[in-house]
Amino acid sequence: MRAHSEKELEVKLIERGQGHVLDWLRQLDAKPRRRLLDQLNELNLKKLDTFRNLIGAPPAGISFSDVEGAPVERVPLTPKEKAYEWHIKKLGNRILQADRVAVLTVAGGHGTRLVGYDHPKGMYPISPIRGASLFQLFAEQIQAARRRYDCSVPWLIMTSETNDCETRQYFQDMDYFGLGRRTVRFFVQNSNPILDSQGRLLRCEPDRLLVGPDGHGGVFEALREGDLIPFLREGGWDIISYFQVDNPLVTAIDPRFLGHHLNYDADFSLKVIPKRSPGEKLGVVVLRAGRPHVIEYIEMPEDVASERLPSGLLRFLYGSIAIHIISVPFIERVAAEDDVLPWHMAKRQYEIINEDGEKVMSQPGECLKFERFVFDALELSHACEFVEVRREMEFAPVKQAQGQNSPATARRLLQRQWIEWLQQAGAEVETPKDLSEPLVEISPLYAASPEELRAKIQPGWLPSFPLLLAPEE
Ligand code: UTP
Repeated sequence: MRAHSEKELEVKLIERGQGHVLDWLRQLDAKPRRRLLDQLNELNLKKLDTFRNLIGAPPAGISFSDVEGAPVERVPLTPKEKAYEWHIKKLGNRILQADRVAVLTVAGGHGTRLVGYDHPKGMYPISPIRGASLFQLFAEQIQAARRRYDCSVPWLIMTSETNDCETRQYFQDMDYFGLGRRTVRFFVQNSNPILDSQGRLLRCEPDRLLVGPDGHGGVFEALREGDLIPFLREGGWDIISYFQVDNPLVTAIDPRFLGHHLNYDADFSLKVIPKRSPGEKLGVVVLRAGRPHVIEYIEMPEDVASERLPSGLLRFLYGSIAIHIISVPFIERVAAEDDVLPWHMAKRQYEIINEDGEKVMSQPGECLKFERFVFDALELSHACEFVEVRREMEFAPVKQAQGQNSPATARRLLQRQWIEWLQQAGAEVETPKDLSEPLVEISPLYAASPEELRAKIQPGWLPSFPLLLAPEE
C-alpha cells in the first residue's frame, strides 16, 4: 500500500468524519506523532467506509419463510446406527493413519468477558488438579493422537496483533509441550479499527489507535497471508480439525467427526447439539432457501426461536458449538476471494483515551468492533455435514469470569466427563454431588478416551480422591 502524504491523509480523514484525529496529532511530539501517522497510513480506508456504513444501518432482518432446520447426523442410539457409526469411525481412523489431518485453533480473540485475566485465553490454567492451561490440554490431545495413529498432526494456531508475542513466548517457555517447535505454526490474523457509535476512530494510547482482531472468520485471509496453505499442501494435510481456544472439553481429533465429513464428501462440517432452551445463545444450523447457514442467536426473534414442530421439538433445534472439519481445498477457495464474508458489528467495552487525554474504561457497549464469522463461509460450501454430539462430552466454553460459561463450570464438566470415563472403564465410583472441588483429572497422555482408560485400569478398581492420572514425569 502506498503511504499517503500528510496532506493527503488529512483530507482522507476529514472526508471520513475523522477530523478529531488531526487534533490528536497536533498534541503529540515528533516521535509519538510519527507512530500514530504510521498506523493511520496503514488503515484500510475502504474497510473503514464499510464499517461506518454498518453503524446505524437497519438490521438485515431474515425472512423465515424459506428457512428450515438443517438435517443432522444424530448421535447413534440403536444397534443398527451404532454399527453404521463403527464404520464411519473406521474411515476417520484411516484418514488419521494416512496423516491427512492438521489441527487449527483460533486463539486471536481479546477474551474481554474473562474479566481479570490479562493473558491470552489459551494460557488460562483450567485443569482442576494440575492447573494445566487450555493450550496444554490441547497439546496433550495432539501428542496422544500422534502416538495412537502414528501420524504427524501439525498444529496451526491463529493469534492476533495483541496476543501473538505472549502466545509464542509461552509456547517457547513450555518447550512446545514436547510437540516439536516446527510442528506448531502460529499465524496472525488482521486487525480492524474499533469505532465509537458515531463511527469515529478511538485510541488505546495517546499515540495508538484502538484496534481489535477481525473475528474468527479472519482465519481464511490469515492462513493465506501467513503462507500456510502451501505448508499444508506440501505436507499432504488436506483436512483441518478446527476448534476454539475456549473449549477445554473439545475432542481435538475425532475419528467419528472426520469419518462423517469424508463419507459425505463435505468441505465444511459442524458439530451441533440440541439447544437447552429456545433462548440459549447458540448459532442455529438451518437450510435457507436450501443452502446451509448458521443463524446467530441475536438474529433470531424470540417467537421464531420458540416455535415447535408437531413432535414438540423446537423447529430450530440444533446449535453449532464451533467445532468444525474444513477441507483445505475449500479454505483455498474462500481465501482466494476478497470480501466474500460479511462483516458483523459487536458492542464491547475497552480501555480508551478520552477527550481529556486520560485512560478510562469506556461505557459498556460504547465501542464497536467489526468481525467476520467462520461459519458464514458455509454459504460457499458444496456439501456440508452437521454432526450431533453429546453436549456434556464436547462443550464447556470459558467465556466469562463468573457464572455460566466460566472456568468453574468448565472444570465441573471436565470432572464429570472423567468420572464417567472411570465408570465406563469399570472403576467403582459414584458421581459426586459436588464437583466444584478438585477431585479428578486424567491427562490425555494417560488416556484420551474411556477405551484407552479401560486398557489401563482393573475392573472394580476403587480409586481414592483426589485422583490424578497422568504419565509419570
Ligand atoms: P469469542 O467470540 O468468545 O470472542 O471468540 P473473544 O474475543 O475471544 O472474547 P470476548 O467476546 O472479547 O469476551 C470465540 C473464539 O474465536 C476466537 C477466540 O480466540 C475464541 O477461540 N477469535 C475470536 C479469534 O481467534 N479471533 C477473533 O477475532 C475473535
